[in-house]
Amino acid sequence: MVSITVLISGSGSNLQALIDAQASGVLQGHIDQVISSSATAYGLTRAQNAKIPTKIHQLKNYYQGIPKDHKKERANKREQFNRDLAHLIISGSIDGTRDPNYHQPDLIVCAGWMLILSPTVLIPLEQAGITIINLHPALPGAFDGTHAIERAHEAGQKGEISEAGIMIHKVITEVDRGEPVLVKKLAIQRGEPLDSYEQRVHALEHKAIVEGTNIVIGEVAKQ
Ligand code: GRF
Repeated sequence: MVSITVLISGSGSNLQALIDAQASGVLQGHIDQVISSSATAYGLTRAQNAKIPTKIHQLKNYYQGIPKDHKKERANKREQFNRDLAHLIISGSIDGTRDPNYHQPDLIVCAGWMLILSPTVLIPLEQAGITIINLHPALPGAFDGTHAIERAHEAGQKGEISEAGIMIHKVITEVDRGEPVLVKKLAIQRGEPLDSYEQRVHALEHKAIVEGTNIVIGEVAKQ
């Protein structure tokens, strides 16, 4: 059974879609752990309710006591955070202790993980043979980076784009530019308020996250 780690940062509604798909036997893999970049992410509650082990890996813990204008020191701490994240995923801990029952995942699903995964994270994971995918609420190459939902909605209302959508893509070092695994399009509805558009996006995401993860599980299972 393909072992999945889900990375989250917030509400976890996409994690919930994966949990529900697992419970109903639709998900072709097993969610063995959830790692959150925030201790207050509601997604942690969703995981705990589903009896899925959780870990928290918070950047602010690394920045503690370092003033915002100490850029170099913070950059070094960010690199340590990245190295530790890779270690946490591969060996199960960052303090050198080894849990004999821990096994690295076959697949990482970024479901609302809001931090860029730099080469310091991605290279060790690639060397460990772990596949990573991400859910991004925009079409390939359209609105890379943050606030993609708001940016796509605004462009749609201005008539700058004729369609919107979401994608599940492989994660590479160029942000939101990995090979698309699944693309789902959304029609632009002129005059539609942002919150209504956002609801359509999330409804589509909750289907796509399961469908896209199953596609990659099929690939990983063959490796
Ligand atoms: C989703 O819209 C996802 O596309 C974006 O962040 C949101 C996560 O929502 N990256 P949730 O935490 O899964 O509810």
